[in-house]
Amino acid sequence: MRHLLTTVGLTHDDAVRILDVAEDMAGVAEREIKKLPALRGKTVVNLFFEDSTRTRISFEAAAKRLSADVINFSAKGSSLSKGESLKDTAQTLSAMGADAVVIRHPSSGAPHTLATSGWIDAGIVNAGDGMHQHPTQALLDAFTIRKRLHGAASRGRALEGVRVLIVGDVVHSRVARSNAWLLTTLGAEVELVAPPTLLPVDTHTWPVTVSYDLDAALAGAPDVVMMLRIQAERMHASFFPNSREYARIWGLDEERLARLRPGSMVMHPGPMNRGLEISAAAADSAQSTVREQVANGVSVRMATLYLLLSGEREDA
Ligand code: NCD
Repeated sequence: MRHLLTTVGLTHDDAVRILDVAEDMAGVAEREIKKLPALRGKTVVNLFFEDSTRTRISFEAAAKRLSADVINFSAKGSSLSKGESLKDTAQTLSAMGADAVVIRHPSSGAPHTLATSGWIDAGIVNAGDGMHQHPTQALLDAFTIRKRLHGAASRGRALEGVRVLIVGDVVHSRVARSNAWLLTTLGAEVELVAPPTLLPVDTHTWPVTVSYDLDAALAGAPDVVMMLRIQAERMHASFFPNSREYARIWGLDEERLARLRPGSMVMHPGPMNRGLEISAAAADSAQSTVREQVANGVSVRMATLYLLLSGEREDA
């Protein structure tokens, strides 16, 4: 693997391979000394042009557990024009000998630009670009689902027949986009349910089904209910009347939680708006995988960095 930019076009076998390597990496977290020497001497740069807590520290923990040197670069607030700034930054990082660049950027396509521009020869990992893609989030979600379903027997398996409902602010969500493709590639059936104002206009080109009534969708007894954060920072108009109404019609409240099939999963990528898209009861329920998702994120990112940086890097 040369770069990880998107889940579109990731093959079934590549995806399972990343999850299997992540499974090995998860074992490291259980050791007393949580460290492998695999990436000693490699430099990983976390280049974050957008706010983030868990994704940035997750990549940092992942790189450090593999003994890489980590440089954190938060470029938010830079007054340089975006194109120039990205090029200049890339050339600086290249001069410093970065082997991998983990980039989060408000513009869709920025990681792709970095990977194809020739400004830098590092492996590029997309840690979220605008409303476009967030591939490691989808991989950690897939890993979490697989682990809950198959436990210690997860290795080598995909998600055949698993029914996943993705709920809420799909239009602004790179998490939904990355998951729609990855989970489908792994054999899952993905349904989006959202108010029409929060659905993108091009969902007919996605490998999913779409519906508009949360209670009807929940009656279909999905295996996984993935709640999306209302991305208020990306809303420059009103997409729903008010928070109380959104929570009532689209929130996973206690009453809806009680209707879920026992053994089904409640997922959320974080950060959660408790009381809006997800109630505290649902977030903290036995069905909730929220904390597992965070822990698994480190393993999946270790696997990604390992596959990108160890040994020969072939061209994708
Ligand atoms: C997601 C993101 O930034 O896209 N969060 C994350 O990676 N932890 C989802 C979100 O912000 O809603």
